[in-house]
Amino acid sequence: MVENYNPENIDVKKVHPSFANVISERETVKRKFQGVKHKIGVYSAKGGVGKTTVAVNLAYALSLMGKKVGLIDADIDCPNITEFLGIKEKQNGAYPLKPIEKSGVKVISTDMFVADKREPIIWRGPLIAKMIKDFLMNTDWGDLDYLIIDLPPGTSDAPLSIMQLLNLDGFILVTTPQHISALNTIRSGKMIAKMGVAVLGVVENMSEDDSSGQKGAREVASELGCDILGSIKFDKRLSEYSDSGKIPVLESEQFKGIFTKIAEKLE
Ligand SMILES: Nc1ncnc2c1ncn2[C@@H]1O[C@H](COP(=O)(O)OP(=O)(O)OP(=O)(O)O)[C@@H](O)[C@H]1O
Ligand SMILES: [Mg+2]
Repeated sequence: MVENYNPENIDVKKVHPSFANVISERETVKRKFQGVKHKIGVYSAKGGVGKTTVAVNLAYALSLMGKKVGLIDADIDCPNITEFLGIKEKQNGAYPLKPIEKSGVKVISTDMFVADKREPIIWRGPLIAKMIKDFLMNTDWGDLDYLIIDLPPGTSDAPLSIMQLLNLDGFILVTTPQHISALNTIRSGKMIAKMGVAVLGVVENMSEDDSSGQKGAREVASELGCDILGSIKFDKRLSEYSDSGKIPVLESEQFKGIFTKIAEKLE
């Protein structure tokens, strides 16, 4: 870990919130984000469907539309956003934390606190919740039009903490065309509904290039009663860009067009 930020020194009893704590923390977060017009999570319980790809490209599409955008990597134990964006800078651990600005978007990620990317981050729920609280309560975001939050897969601690603490506008769900992906994305949609948060719509990623397009998104949309916001075809240039820390919507007019169409639906 970087100097001054060692979660192993944190007293777990102090960071494991009671219900009353959650309510008061939610109020604190609400006050803190009063100046942020839209707070949107990107989520699916299914891993590897393209949540981070969608979160990153939507954030930069919104930025290209002239919006002030913040991006939280809420994948605390497998943080990938810095790699997608080619961010090498680290945090110094001093409070308030300062997001790192990359091409106009303010970004924060656990990776900025970890000296070696290849070391595993093995944290139980309370430490994950503490990091998320730091991103929400102890980070200097300034005024934003959009805060985009990239969620990890699964339905456990990180999504729960975000849903409990932040009064989100809602979530964008991401699925691939396959039934198994749609099924787990439906699971995420139902978790979101149980937490009283809205589903803004579903994006199909890695769509097949044939006439049966949006298979997975149609399954999710019909089960959850939500809109299909768009679909992104499987295109190896997307992974080539992210592997080299380049942002597709800043590199290619084609990707800019695809993600801008989705971003316009969030206005
Ligand atoms: N449409 C696409 N075509 C080709 N490759 C893609 C596409 N979308 C995403 N990828 C690549 O697939 C991999 C997984 O994408 P990504 O990391 O965005 O998924 P994720 O849902 O965030 O994964 P995780 O569940 O681990 O957080 C990445 O290497 C990404 O570059
Ligand atoms: Mg991801």
